[in-house]
Amino acid sequence: MRVGLFFTILLLISNSYDGKAQSGEALFKSKGCAGCHSKGFDTFAPSLKTISKSYFNRRGDLKNFLLGNSPGLIYKEPQTMKNIINNITKKLSHSELEALTDYLLAH
Ligand code: HEC
Repeated sequence: MRVGLFFTILLLISNSYDGKAQSGEALFKSKGCAGCHSKGFDTFAPSLKTISKSYFNRRGDLKNFLLGNSPGLIYKEPQTMKNIINNITKKLSHSELEALTDYLLAH
């Protein structure tokens, strides 16, 4: 039990220090994005396909949205995403943000 906890903490720490460890896809899953965004179907959340299409050639706009610096191109003012931006995407390291952005644009 103790040992398990120790390794869990070690894993969490090593994850947060190693910026390049997680691919964009791994981040998309581990940060919970996949729970709402599907690959190809728009639900209450836009699909990866819609995101890739809407942000085609607008990588800077996508990063600014994820950093909370600008409204979304699709939905304008973020609603559900507001908390996610503040608690998750704003706090990503530079390399994590790049990897996640690459993944969002690759559909
Ligand atoms: C709880 C469900 C949920 C989760 C989890 C979630 N999203 Fe969203 N996302 C939404 C909804 C709903 C919208 C539509 C705009 C809104 O309501 O904020 C959206 C919109 C977006 C958009 C398009 C913004 C626009 O208007 O142009 C992007 C990009 C995005 N999400 C990325 C992400 C990423 C990256 C993650 C993981 C860090 C994530 N989302 C996690 C529900 C979610």
